[in-house]
Amino acid sequence: MKTVLCLVIFSLLSLKTLGVIYEDEEQTASNFSHVLKGLMSDYDARLRPNFGRGPLYVGMDIVIASFDSISEVNMDFTITMNLNQYWKDERLSFSSENEVFTLAGDFSEKIWVPDTFFPNDKHSYLHDVTEKNKMVKLHGDGSIAYGMRFTTTLSCMMDLHYYPLDFQNCTIEIESYGYAEEDVAMYWKEQPASGLESLELQQFSIIDYRAIDKKIKLATGTYQRLSFSFKLSRSIGYFIIQTYLPVMLIVMLSWVSFWINHEATPARVALGITTVLTMTTISTGVRSSLPRISYVKAIDIYLVMGFVFVFAALLEYAAVNYTNACRNAKKQKAALAAEVAKKKKEAEEAKKAELE
Ligand SMILES: *[C@@H]1O[C@H](CO)[C@@H](O)[C@H](O)[C@H]1NC(C)=O
Ligand SMILES: *[C@@H]1O[C@H](CO)[C@@H](O)[C@H](O)[C@H]1NC(C)=O
Repeated sequence: MKTVLCLVIFSLLSLKTLGVIYEDEEQTASNFSHVLKGLMSDYDARLRPNFGRGPLYVGMDIVIASFDSISEVNMDFTITMNLNQYWKDERLSFSSENEVFTLAGDFSEKIWVPDTFFPNDKHSYLHDVTEKNKMVKLHGDGSIAYGMRFTTTLSCMMDLHYYPLDFQNCTIEIESYGYAEEDVAMYWKEQPASGLESLELQQFSIIDYRAIDKKIKLATGTYQRLSFSFKLSRSIGYFIIQTYLPVMLIVMLSWVSFWINHEATPARVALGITTVLTMTTISTGVRSSLPRISYVKAIDIYLVMGFVFVFAALLEYAAVNYTNACRNAKKQKAALAAEVAKKKKEAEEAKKAELE
C-alpha cells in the first residue's frame, strides 16, 4: 500500500517536472528566435567580423572520412572530408553565458562566412543527401563553428623517378580567396586533422603527415595558406605479383632454349619470339597505368633489362644457327673437294692403267 502511494506521488511529481521542462523549452525557443531576429535585423553579411579592427582569426580543422583514390595518370588524389571553421563574430553574441545552439545549415547563407578555397583543387562537390551537409553552431559570445562535408579532387604533382619504389608527398591546401593576411588570418586548431588512423588505402600507406602554415605572396597581396601534407609510400606487393615475378620467369623461360638442340629450329625460334612478345605485353600493361612521362623510371630499367636478356637469348640462337650453317657449308665444301679430288685421282689412275 505504502509503495503504491509512493509510486503514485513519484509519477505525479515527475509529470509535473516534465511539464515545467517542456514549458521552459518552449520559452527558450521563442526567446531565442526572438533574439536571432534582433541580431539579424541590422546585420550586414557583406562585412567581415572585426571589420576595420585588425585581422579576423579563423581556425581550421579537418576530419578525413576516406582517401578515395590516387591517380598517377591525372596526378591527383580524391578525398572525402569534413572541414570545420571556427571564428568569432561579435555581432552575433547574444548572452554572456556559455550557451551553444546548433542551427540549420542554411543559416550560413545569412551571415558572413569565410571564402575559404583549396588552391590545388580540380573539382569538388558538397554532399547533399539528405540535406546539404552543413552545420552551424552559435555560441553565446558570438563564436561560430561552421562545418561541411565534401569530396574533393586535389592535384598532387608526383615524382615518378623511383616508381614503383617511390614516396609521394600530397597536400591539402587551404586559403582565403579574397581576404589577404591583414583581413583574415587562418590557423590550424590544436588537432589539425583526425580520422587518419582508420584510413585504408589500396596501394599506399601513410607514413607521415604534417600541418604547415605559410604565407604566399601573390599580385593581390600576401595570403595565409594552411596546408596539410601526407607522405605516402607505395606498397610493392602488387608490382611483385604483377610485374617483377612474371618478368623473372619469362627471362628464365628464355634460357630453356639453351638446352634444346640447336638443330630444332622451330622449337627455339618459337620460344625466343614468344618470350620477347610476352615482355612487350607486360611492359605495355605497366605503361597503361602511368602518364606519358619522358624520364626513365625505376621500373623501366627493370623491364628493359628483362627485354635485353630475352632478346639476347634469341640473338644467341641466331648466332649459333649462323655459325653452325657456316661450319656445315665448309664441311660440305671440303667433302665435295675431297670427292672431286678422289674422282680425279681415280680417273688419272684409270688413265695410267690404260696407257700401260
Ligand atoms: C525568456 O524571456 C523572458 C523575458 O523576455 C524571461 O523572463 C525568461 O526567463 C526567458 N526564458 C528563458 C528560458 O530564457
Ligand atoms: C611535403 O613537402 C613539403 C614541401 O616540400 C614539405 O614542407 C613537407 O614537410 C612535406 N611533407 C611531409 C609529410 O614530409
